[in-house]
Amino acid sequence: MSDASQQAANQMWGGRFSSGVDAIMEAINASIDFDRRLARQDIEGSRAHAAMLAAQGILTDSDAAAVREGLLTILSEIEGGSFTFSKALEDIHMNVEARLKELIGEPAGRLHTARSRNDQVATDFRLWVRDQYDAAISGIEALQGALIAQAEAGADWVMPGFTHLQVAQPVTWGHHMLAYVEMLGRDAGRFRDARARMNECPLGAAALAGTSFPIDRHATADALGFDRPCANSLDAVSDRDFALEFLSAASICAMHLSRLAEELVIWSSAQFRFVTLSDAFSTGSSIMPQKKNPDAAELIRAKIGRIFGANVALMTVMKGLPLAYCKDTQEDKEPVFDAADSLMLSLAAMTGMVADMVANRAVLETAAASGFSTATDLADWLVRELGLPFREAHHITGALVALAEGKGCDLPDLALAEMQSVHAGITEGVFDVLGVANSVASRRSYGGTSPERVREQVTLWKERIG
Ligand code: ARG
Repeated sequence: MSDASQQAANQMWGGRFSSGVDAIMEAINASIDFDRRLARQDIEGSRAHAAMLAAQGILTDSDAAAVREGLLTILSEIEGGSFTFSKALEDIHMNVEARLKELIGEPAGRLHTARSRNDQVATDFRLWVRDQYDAAISGIEALQGALIAQAEAGADWVMPGFTHLQVAQPVTWGHHMLAYVEMLGRDAGRFRDARARMNECPLGAAALAGTSFPIDRHATADALGFDRPCANSLDAVSDRDFALEFLSAASICAMHLSRLAEELVIWSSAQFRFVTLSDAFSTGSSIMPQKKNPDAAELIRAKIGRIFGANVALMTVMKGLPLAYCKDTQEDKEPVFDAADSLMLSLAAMTGMVADMVANRAVLETAAASGFSTATDLADWLVRELGLPFREAHHITGALVALAEGKGCDLPDLALAEMQSVHAGITEGVFDVLGVANSVASRRSYGGTSPERVREQVTLWKERIG
């Protein structure tokens, strides 16, 4: 039997209990070790509740003032590290209330009028997750800013574009950077959409059915920055879809970060040398002196594992729960805390890496011209200048690639006569399209890789994210 069970029954809910709880029960039941992260939100919610109770004449003004003052004292104790958390008091709500009783005495017991821990925790957690929506959006915008700066500097730097990680066609550095800006823009959009949906206040739903006290749910919703109160008390206390939407948006965003991280790992390798990562975001090896490892990128690449894991975990906790509140829901917090921490750290680390990274332009340019990357330009030229059907142009180009490959050279290195041996109609003009700079400059279609289009998009994005 634990200390708690030696004591009288629990002071918060022990009215019908004759003894305390077993130590193992305490261990499985208590959430204070993690839900202490909701302290600020808990106090904010309670202060709003107390003010509303007084405004509605349910609490006297002097009791409400004592409660609100006492809660502020507790907040400073918690933030200053002097607060003693007790496992026997289970969770943050009861820890705060018990301390309030020590500080102000009897009025503390009146705070819980017209509410329950069920609407209390649902409110606290929503407030916490709402802050994470905001943090994710600003983290994403910071990363977009770093990518846009790279895109602007390198709007006309050429590099190989890949499909299947095989050289496909030349693209511009700026275009490649902006591809991630687009992905991140949709990520921020998902966080924004979900935030608008989740911004309803559960407080006042009480245990599950609402309350007989004449409360004003609109007032508490307003005070806590919610757009409105949740319209159904059963739903308000029991669903956690606001956290699930956060986790799914976070999973998709982390997946995008993981793709970029993978590119940085490849690009910074000795075989590619497309970029140099800064020392600030790399580590050395304890045994191989030449090594500079892209650890931050590798860790970001891996974070999707725990973020998506959190999504699966909470989805699984929630499935099959009957209405309304079930204690299962207490398991919502740790995965969300961990996923949010992982996402914010990944965004910050990626922003630092991207801001610092230096593209090796000469290497990129040489690589852009290798692998017959302008073969499509050649085929397009045959269609445009000689009026050939694309299928035939494709075939002729294939023969020219085979010819160059046999000679161990690139397409622009073939002599005109050699080209004409494959198709007599080819003229000197073909060499204009074989250079990578011309190739990228020609791809002016909307959304294409030409420096012109890239610069337009840079301007638009700078307006959008300010
Ligand atoms: N610690 C609990 C949780 O996180 C608070 C709500 C407890 N409600 C109850 N009816 N036991 O879910």
